[in-house]
Amino acid sequence: MSAELTLTVLLTADQVHDRVRALAAEINTSYPTGLDPHLVSVLKGGFIFLADLVRALDRPVTIDFVAIASYGSGTRSSSVITLTKDLEIGIADRDVLIVEDIVDTGQTLSWLLDSFRARHPRSLRTVSLLDKRSRRTVEVGIEHVGFTIEDRFVVGYGLDYAEQFRHLPYLAVLDRAPTDKPVR
Ligand code: IMP
Ligand code: MG
Repeated sequence: MSAELTLTVLLTADQVHDRVRALAAEINTSYPTGLDPHLVSVLKGGFIFLADLVRALDRPVTIDFVAIASYGSGTRSSSVITLTKDLEIGIADRDVLIVEDIVDTGQTLSWLLDSFRARHPRSLRTVSLLDKRSRRTVEVGIEHVGFTIEDRFVVGYGLDYAEQFRHLPYLAVLDRAPTDKPVR
């Protein structure tokens, strides 16, 4: 970690843990008994959230992963998004729950929803641990949100800055010294 980066705890490990359990309960009651939701996590940021969520869900589930590359074009309103890792299990007629770490502009999730809808799942919903609603450039529906947060760059609990900080058990705001460029 370079010296000019500072971390400030935003949500403690206990706060995250409690909210994940509550989200799991919410998700549980939203699906009929006997139905096994198919959880699709977006790598890499979503891996810790998925791991905690499935253990808190009181029902059998299946899981799969996608990885996404986004080539921003300055404004990010016209980012080019591609799958760098596709699903391994077909989602036709499955009850798909996308598990996201954070929704920021909404570009990624919106693209993913379109891509998945074209594969004809029986149902398609989203849970995101974090929602930076004020940054949205694309309207996108999210059925389950862990925390709505301010427009700050956050790391930890799977989320990174330049591949650092994913291992932290809590969520922190990452700031640079005032003389440096803001973290984005
Ligand atoms: P969107 O397409 O703008 O909604 O961006 C979503 C993706 O941007 C997330 O899945 C993250 O990979 C990344 N991202 C957005 N905000 C943050 C943040 O505060 N910390 C870490 N990654 C972020
Ligand atoms: Mg993500």
